[in-house]
Amino acid sequence: MTIYRDELEAILAKTATENKIVIIAVVNKAYVEGDKSMLDLFLDGFWHGDDTRGLRDHLLIVAVDQTAYERCMFLKLHCYKLETDGVDYDGEKLFMSGDFVKMMWRRTLFLGDVLKRGYNFIFTDTDVIWLRNPFPRLNPNETIDLQISTDVFYGDEWSESNKINTGFYMIRSNNKTIALFDNWYAKKDNSSGMKEQDVLEMLMHEGVFKGLGLRVRFLDTLFFSGFCQKSSDVSAVVTVHANCCRSISAKLTDLMDVIHHWKTFKNLPTNETLTIEWSKHLACINSWKF
Ligand SMILES: *[C@@H]1O[C@H](CO)[C@@H](O)[C@H](O)[C@H]1NC(C)=O
Ligand SMILES: *[C@@H]1O[C@H](CO)[C@@H](O)[C@H](O)[C@H]1NC(C)=O
Ligand SMILES: *[C@@H]1O[C@H](CO)[C@@H](O)[C@H](O)[C@H]1NC(C)=O
Ligand SMILES: *[C@@H]1O[C@H](CO)[C@@H](O)[C@H](O)[C@H]1NC(C)=O
Repeated sequence: MTIYRDELEAILAKTATENKIVIIAVVNKAYVEGDKSMLDLFLDGFWHGDDTRGLRDHLLIVAVDQTAYERCMFLKLHCYKLETDGVDYDGEKLFMSGDFVKMMWRRTLFLGDVLKRGYNFIFTDTDVIWLRNPFPRLNPNETIDLQISTDVFYGDEWSESNKINTGFYMIRSNNKTIALFDNWYAKKDNSSGMKEQDVLEMLMHEGVFKGLGLRVRFLDTLFFSGFCQKSSDVSAVVTVHANCCRSISAKLTDLMDVIHHWKTFKNLPTNETLTIEWSKHLACINSWKF
């Protein structure tokens, strides 16, 4: 019997693929409650997606409050309760509110810890719906340290001019990526008004990726799509992220529509699938109006 150092070590070992890859999503109370919660919808994606059901075995749900943890346990997923030294993370965190930013930094620290334990991972926000297994679209070459989704993809998968989005990325555990997370987290107290994604982007533009010798691939929105820049091809799309959206309720409305469109798409005879258009994600567009 293997003796694990702590609970995190044990759950990582249990959840990882044979290549030591874990799929990690972080949730709080606001993401697990309601008639249809974001977590429910996220899991619906794995159910309705192509070749995605088995991925659930490698999904680790990281709960930042007790309700989220209990909901995760109830769903019989792999769950880990992240201790957050007394901060209340259980409400809805509006984009860029103080708690939203704090929660993200706690998450960055945690993910750096996962890398230090030797695990590679795919980080996914729960407002990213997985419609296909992403592995065939992720480059398996181990010299690539980070493959990260983009809000806007400009056509060159190696160009730092793409607009990164930290809502979905795959990262390998090695000294370079660990150093990247250390650099990233070190900016926590000196980046007021910026969320961790902006800080990563800033590091990139300051030349930190190149300085550390990181090989970073930027993912094409044709496959890793979102509301900022929709994939033009339903038959190619792997994930849909409710980015460029302000509130949970708007995301839920529009992602439910995505799943609805996906099911329609799957039920069409092949010669008619090209007639499908994506949902217009109007709730998200309207979520920025006051
Ligand atoms: C991985 O990429 C490197 C750099 O482009 C290349 O030299 C190497 O042959 C690739 N490895 C495999 C297994 O494709
Ligand atoms: C990382 O660095 C340490 C010491 O600097 C070294 O012992 C170790 O082999 C390195 N690990 C990898 C994966 O390169
Ligand atoms: C914080 O950032 C400013 C401006 O980039 C820099 O001048 C200052 O040295 C930084 N402080 C710390 C503690 O890193
Ligand atoms: C698809 O095929 C069916 C049966 O052959 C045909 O009735 C239908 O018109 C075709 N649809 C398109 C858009 O070509």
